[in-house]
Amino acid sequence: MHRVVCFECGGEVDDPFVDSCPKCGGLLTVDLDLDFASGLRPYDLRKRPLGVWRYAPFLPVDASRAVTLQEGGTPLYDCQDLRSIIGIKGVHVKYEGANPTGSFKDRGMTVGVTRAVELGCRTVGCASTGNTSASLSAYAAKAGLSCIVLLPSGKVAAGKLAQAMFYGAKVVMVDGNFDDALQVTSQLAREGVLYLLNSINPFRPEGQKTVAFEIVDQLDFEVPDRIILPVGNAGNISAVHKALTEWKALGWIDRMPKLTGVQAAGSAPIVRAFRDERMDFEPEQHPETVATAIRIGNPVSGKKALKAIYDTGGVATDVTDEEILAAQRLLGRKEGIGVEPASAASIAGLIKLVDDGVVARDERVVCICTGNVLKDPDTVMRSCEEILKAKPTVEDVRRVIA
Ligand code: F0G
Repeated sequence: MHRVVCFECGGEVDDPFVDSCPKCGGLLTVDLDLDFASGLRPYDLRKRPLGVWRYAPFLPVDASRAVTLQEGGTPLYDCQDLRSIIGIKGVHVKYEGANPTGSFKDRGMTVGVTRAVELGCRTVGCASTGNTSASLSAYAAKAGLSCIVLLPSGKVAAGKLAQAMFYGAKVVMVDGNFDDALQVTSQLAREGVLYLLNSINPFRPEGQKTVAFEIVDQLDFEVPDRIILPVGNAGNISAVHKALTEWKALGWIDRMPKLTGVQAAGSAPIVRAFRDERMDFEPEQHPETVATAIRIGNPVSGKKALKAIYDTGGVATDVTDEEILAAQRLLGRKEGIGVEPASAASIAGLIKLVDDGVVARDERVVCICTGNVLKDPDTVMRSCEEILKAKPTVEDVRRVIA
């Protein structure tokens, strides 16, 4: 059983089509009654394959009607080279680029679109920096729903835009940033034009919880000391926190990893709030970064993110675009893992926090790398060496590679 409640005043919210508390305007969250798990042991879940739906008892929708593309079940790489380069005890990368549309968003969308179908919706929509739109478009196609996506004009990576177009969504470029696009999309949702599937919809984070479940499951219930992830609209870090809180309440894990959020220096309202030890944040009016996925100034779930960080003894830090691109190349060239710039922020953040002495050298850390390198080929090609050119002869190729 579950109820939708206000994250701030705790009041129950009955209307499934509102995106905030009708009484106080607060963020919504799903309150799961964990009684179902009293006779359940963590290992019982392993009868199902690793993936989002292994954790169906923790998801507030009817799993027998799931709209699924077999999301989740992504690799957890033990990165030995990275570990010695950075100089800490353990580094794992949870590679979310291996999801069906190439990002972690698929975990939330399988649950969110299942919910939309349960509610009888015909049209779904979102604002997006790219990945949410790519994911929603695919799941809407699978479910036979119409889909409308609003994107910040000129600031969406090529792979993501191509995906939304490919899966048949109505793609609307908005002359503004993500925050502007989300305001318009929310208004369209309130007017009944579409069912909103941004992470402000509390069913989205429910699916995204499963990345944390999988990490713990893949580590055989040895909880890592810290989980580091990029923060944009702040839905994912909140979802990870909720997941771990649920398993801690059941006694399935004995402690919480320190949740550590990384933002790009040009879009870092949560980092500023953390430094000032505040529970709330000031929006960034002109967010800018090469990591367009997290180019967000007014993170919708910012308050939830700050709570996740404070409650677990984690930190928030920012990294420059140069640090992001260097970490992206390092991961590719030392570990063979291809991630998009926003995802590399978690690695860049780890490097910086170890250098600053914030992350101790005896820690075992998991970095969540949220999206695939193929999402943003233009940035990769700009940040790598030039391509060699040769005539079609062995001699000439020998000459240029020498
Ligand atoms: N990494 C990637 C690759 C993303 O696409 C996003 C968010 C994040 C990290 C940050 O996650 O918003 O939950 O804090 N992308 C959204 C989108 C905003 O529209 O695709 P968050």
